Amino acid sequence: MARLQGKVAIVTGAASGIGRASAILFAQEGASVVIADRSSDVGATAETIRAAGGRVVAVEADAGDEAAVASLVERAIKEFGGLDITYANAGIVGPHVPFLELSGADWQDVLRINLVGPFLAIKYSAKAFLAASRPGSIICTASVAGIRSGAGPTPYSASKAGVINLVQTTANQLAGTGIRVNAICPGLIETGMTKPVFDGARARGKEAKLGQLNPLRRYGVPTEIAGAALFLASDDSSYVNGQAIVVDGGLSSSHPVVPGRID
Ligand SMILES: NC(=O)c1ccc[n+]([C@@H]2O[C@H](COP(=O)([O-])OP(=O)(O)OC[C@H]3O[C@@H](n4cnc5c(N)ncnc54)[C@H](O)[C@@H]3O)[C@@H](O)[C@H]2O)c1
Repeated sequence: MARLQGKVAIVTGAASGIGRASAILFAQEGASVVIADRSSDVGATAETIRAAGGRVVAVEADAGDEAAVASLVERAIKEFGGLDITYANAGIVGPHVPFLELSGADWQDVLRINLVGPFLAIKYSAKAFLAASRPGSIICTASVAGIRSGAGPTPYSASKAGVINLVQTTANQLAGTGIRVNAICPGLIETGMTKPVFDGARARGKEAKLGQLNPLRRYGVPTEIAGAALFLASDDSSYVNGQAIVVDGGLSSSHPVVPGRID
């Protein structure tokens, strides 16, 4: 049987990349999905889902806006009769600038979308789960950039570290409710966000260098993160809670090493 049969899921950032792949996979696995993005391309994701026989509502919405997130949850309940899964995935990378050159204002949008957004998604989803006595699953996209330095600009990395902590604190404040809150920390995945990196490497004839820092020696694709999201959304992960699961080809499993040395 499909792993999300009869479930209702919200996925944010579903116009592109990881969110798009996850929304399509959740629908393939039987979920009715409310997909949101600030880009109108979210309609194309909905078309793909509908064409495959899935049940979907597409909403153009800002995942960092409180009223918009509250109304996404209401929409799921109104359209599909409830809510079981929320995947707070929308994010931006923000300015690629050394921190000495950033102002406080430069941080605001990154934190608002990448950290306040997941907080709002957890808050309104948990309220809906509690009101309906449903043991829901909430998933947030963090990043390997949130574990340590070296995978993104300063505000981006700090926002993702915040998401890792957010799933811990909220999972614990929801103790005794059956609601699970987890995060995924992707490594380098080819998406809209990383397009400049991939385009730049290809333009310089350096595509073979992409993803070489992890022991799988390749970059990832959105369906590989969607698979982890499906695991966390489904009952397969019924005892996984308050965790940040790293899906990075092993990138974060090692200290830097001198090439050729065996340790
Ligand atoms: N691609 C990677 O290598 C990588 C690695 C680690 C983490 N991530 C995270 O994965 C998540 C998905 O990103 P992606 O890589 O698929 O990039 P992407 O750019 O392909 O997709 C992100 C989507 O989020 C949407 N979005 C941005 N701000 C929004 C807002 N305020 N409201 C609604 N939608 C908004 C964008 O329009 C876009 O469709 C992000 O949280 C990102 O930080 C990506």
